[in-house]
Amino acid sequence: MLAPDSADILNIGIDPDFKRQGYGRALLKHLIKELRKRNIREILLEVRTANKSAIQFYKKQGFKVISVRKNYYTKNLKNQSKREDGIIMGLKIPSTEIKNDL
Ligand SMILES: CC(C)(COP(=O)(O)OP(=O)(O)OC[C@H]1O[C@@H](n2cnc3c(N)ncnc32)[C@H](O)[C@@H]1OP(=O)(O)O)[C@@H](O)C(=O)NCCC(=O)NCCS
Repeated sequence: MLAPDSADILNIGIDPDFKRQGYGRALLKHLIKELRKRNIREILLEVRTANKSAIQFYKKQGFKVISVRKNYYTKNLKNQSKREDGIIMGLKIPSTEIKNDL
């Protein structure tokens, strides 16, 4: 999703048989390249606190935790009272590609 100068990642998914082979990183690298061309300077996303692998993945790619949305997600559709926090993460995109960046 694109806003004037920032983009939101709603979801990224890699086939479970192909995880941890660098495809997620490659996808993000391609996205950043395309966003830079469009003068987008920031990526934002939200992830469930329980999704530790995605949080690690995004941190490894340079995303920082910006804030926490308390009780944002419904954990269990049958029991709406069980809720889970959402973590908002962001990445600043430099205007020019730097060596070894994403
Ligand atoms: C998150 C996801 C996109 C990562 O894709 P991927 O192709 O497996 O990730 P990569 O192989 O590019 O990993 C790059 C780095 O991120 C980190 N990372 C990725 N998966 C990780 C995991 N399960 N645990 C810890 N670190 C992880 C590692 O540092 C990894 O580098 P390394 O393998 O050299 O150690 C993938 O796990 C996925 O599809 N998850 C389910 C959907 C999801 O939760 N999407 C995000 C919601 S917004």
